Parts: sequence; C-alpha cells; structure tokens
Amino acid sequence: MLNRTIDIYSPLTNEVIGNVKAMSKEEVDESIKKSREALTEWRAKSTADRMEYLYRASEILLERKEELADLIVKEVGKDRKSAYSEVERTSELIHFTADTAKNLEGRSIPTETVLGGSKNKFAIIQREPIGVILAISPFNYPVNLAASKIAPALVGGNTVIFKPATQGSLSGIMLAEVFQAAGLPDGVLNVVTGKGSEIGDYVVTHPGINFINFTGSTKVGQHIAKEAKMIPLLMELGGKDAAIVLEDADLELAATQIVAGAFSYSGQRCTAIKRVIALDKIAEELQEKINKKVASLKVGNPQYTEGSIDVVPLIDDKSADYVEGLITEAKEKGAKLLCGGTREGNLIYPTVLDYVTADMRIAWEEPFGPVLPIIHVKSEDEAVELANQSEYGLQSAVFTNNIHKAFEIASKLEVGTVQINNKTERGPDHLPFLGIKNSGIGVQGISYSIEAMTRIKSTVINV
Ligand code: NAP
Ligand code: G3P
Repeated sequence: MLNRTIDIYSPLTNEVIGNVKAMSKEEVDESIKKSREALTEWRAKSTADRMEYLYRASEILLERKEELADLIVKEVGKDRKSAYSEVERTSELIHFTADTAKNLEGRSIPTETVLGGSKNKFAIIQREPIGVILAISPFNYPVNLAASKIAPALVGGNTVIFKPATQGSLSGIMLAEVFQAAGLPDGVLNVVTGKGSEIGDYVVTHPGINFINFTGSTKVGQHIAKEAKMIPLLMELGGKDAAIVLEDADLELAATQIVAGAFSYSGQRCTAIKRVIALDKIAEELQEKINKKVASLKVGNPQYTEGSIDVVPLIDDKSADYVEGLITEAKEKGAKLLCGGTREGNLIYPTVLDYVTADMRIAWEEPFGPVLPIIHVKSEDEAVELANQSEYGLQSAVFTNNIHKAFEIASKLEVGTVQINNKTERGPDHLPFLGIKNSGIGVQGISYSIEAMTRIKSTVINV
C-alpha cells in the first residue's frame, strides 16, 4: 500500500500549511488494536489517577496557547481573538471535566421498599467505561469539539480513537500531542487521519469500536447512524436556530444579539442564528437596527490583524458557492437584499435578506455562512409554527420583556435549548447541550458527556 498524505491548505491564503496521513485500513486496524490493548490498564486506574492526566493536559494546553491559536487561524480561518478563546475555553473544559469526575457517585438500592422485595437483597450501582470511543469532530472548533469528547471519554475510563475533520486535523493532532505530553499511557488516545469519504465508513463499522461520539453535518450524521447499526451514538448535528422577536421586545438588545449570533466566525457555528422571525409590527424597525449593526461588522482576512474580525473567508470555495446559491435563489424569488450579497473568493460579505418567505431555500436550509434571512409573521402562534416546521431542533432565541410570554413560547418550541433575550449559543460547557429532531441524538455537556460515555453496572448482593 502506498504511503499517501493529504495536503492541508489554508482557507486564508490557499497555501499548503502541512499535511496528514491518509491512513490505510491496516493502519486503522493497528490504531484500534492499540486502543483495545490499552483499555484494560486504563480502566483499572482510579478515577483520581485519570483526573491527574486531565489536569496536566489542561495546563500544557495553556502553555501552548500561542502556537495552537496560530495554527487554528491558519487552518480554519478564525480570527486570533476567537482562536485564543477556543484554546482557553478548552483548557477550562478539560480541567472542569476532571473536577466533575470527582463528584461522580455510585449508589445502592435497597429492595425491601417494594412489594415482594427482600430485606436480604440490595443492589450496588456503579458506572463503568463503555470501551473504545470513536470521537469524530468537525472543522469549526477543531480543538474544543475534539476535547469535549476526548476528556470525558478518558476520565470515564474509556480509550479513544480520534478522527478529526481533515480541515482541522493539524490542530487536532496538536491537541492529541498535548494529551500525550501529559503522560497518557501508550494507546489510550490514538488519532486516525484521512478523508471521511474514504476511511469514515471503515472506522464507524469497525468491530473494535464500542461507541461513536460525532459532531458534524446532519447528512453525514444520518449516514453514520445507518452504517453503525447497534453501536450507541451521541451526535451534535446541524441547526437552523430561529430568533423570534415579539412586539414588546427591546429591539436594540435583540438586534445586537442577533447580529453577533448570526455573523461571528461568518456564521460557521451550529448555534449561529440562522433566521429571524419577527412580528409584523416591529419588523421594519428591527430590520433597520440589524442593518446598521451589520454595517459596522469587521470583515476581512484575519491573518493580517491581532484583533477580532467578525466575518472571515469561509472554510472553502464549495461552502461559499453553496451560500451564494442560497442568496441568489432568495433574491430571484423576491427577497429584499438589505446589505451584502457580494463575494471575493471564499469571502462572502455579511448579507441580510428581508421579506424571506417559506418557498425560499434560505428559510429552511443551514447556510453555515454569513447570511441572515428575516421572515415577517402576523402572530406569535405563526412564529412558533414556523419555527417548529424546521427539520432541525437545536436552539431558539425569544426576545420579549414579558417573562410569562417567554416561558409560554419556550414551552412550545421543539428545540433542545431556548435562550431568553440572548443569542443562541453553546455553553457554559457544563450546561446540557442537545439537539432534537435532525439536530442530534443524546445530550452533551461535561457531566452529561461523562454519563453518556459510561454505563451503569448493577451488582446485586444477596445476603
Ligand atoms: P461534516 O462534513 O459532516 O464532517 C464532520 C466530520 O465527519 C469530519 O471529521 C469528517 O471528516 C467526518 N466524516 C465525513 N464523512 C464521514 C463518514 N462517512 N464516516 C465518518 N466520518 C465522516 O461537517 P463539517 O463541515 O466539518 O462541520 C459543519 C457541520 O457540522 C454543520 O452542519 C454544523 O451545523 C455541524 N456542527 C454541529 C455542531 C453541534 O454541536 N450541533 C457543532 C459544530 C458543527 P472529513 O473532514 O475528513 O470529511
Ligand atoms: O458549531 C459549534 C457549536 O458547538 C457552537 O458553539 O460556543 O459557538 O455556540 P458556540
């Protein structure tokens, strides 16, 4: 078998910034074999021992902040400020994961309290690892969304096969080096590189894998779910988060939150606000405020500045083509272009489309780019109905000054999380994070992720 490598190009310069191995099936077999061999000793360690590795990794990650942030900027086109914050947030996440493991408790269940139960019998309930976890991460948070799988899996006593997004794999490999530098025993964390389209199916259907923790698009997630059959899954997928703005909302606050939520990192976030649903009465005023704020967004190539840039070039040309197609179709069907709509290479200028209607693709599809559709509705019921018609169910935001109304609408929305008077967002990282419908399976968030990647073992004592 030829030794193949994949060149990684920067979305900012189109230059090759490194390369990774396109692993063969035999190399994947070897990695998974190592993970299985390492499992026995790793799961036998005390939780306190495993926590120590995480504390060390959290510190080393901070020591390598400059280097890693530099790579994130080059590899996935984030601005430097966001790249720093990704590294810092990840260091904290790893630390807090270890802290959380400290509080994991087992329990015992007496049986005498139920009819037919016995005084001479009780069960001890403990958590144990699931085995070898396959962690597959997306390009947009190459460090954070990798560590949010790896750290809870490890502290729970599992070993890990980590498959980073190809665009993001240099950053992912550096994260894995950090864990190695923390002294992880050989084989506990193994990186598998190669294109998902080539090696993905082989890895997800490998008999050595016991659990798949995946973040990425709904399309790939659904494909993996089909292939994986009985393997348990934890999945964070796509979204079409709506900001619902009611008549009594603080429109200045709503516009600020909506613009930040829709355009940071060019909207390449699963939790980006991807549509505004505004009540007719306030839609014009809201639109004007949004438009003004969009005009002051910083747009450009983040490699030339130390500060923050909101709208950066998209990850590749294909993504920019897709976003451009959505804008063109909406305009052809009568949407009003308030700003943007232009493109230089893979940089799409921040675009706001007003009077978007249900027959336009932009009303339903996830652009993963800097384009915000505004949809006018006549009533709150219509707003909820439209929000729920989406195939996705990640988050929604509701802007109102009436707390009763906020709760009433929140209770009707088919999503994992509702944000009241705030943009949609993941975190803080110990909160539950989940998507329903086509946005995911299961619940992430530090303690939830540890729980998901461990299982209950019940031992019944009969005296
Ligand atoms: P993607 O194209 O679905 O890729 C995600 C990961 O899956 C990559 O590591 C990819 O590897 C791998 N992959 C592709 N085909 C595979 C296969 N057949 N078997 C196994 N793995 C396979 O997603 P992306 O473009 O990186 O990320 C953007 C998407 O992720 C958006 O839809 C976004 O909403 C979603 N996302 C969701 C969340 C959330 O928390 N809900 C968070 C972040 C992103 P290659 O790179 O080698 O193809
Ligand atoms: O797309 C990644 C998703 O997890 C978003 O995270 O922190 O930007 O809301 P955040």
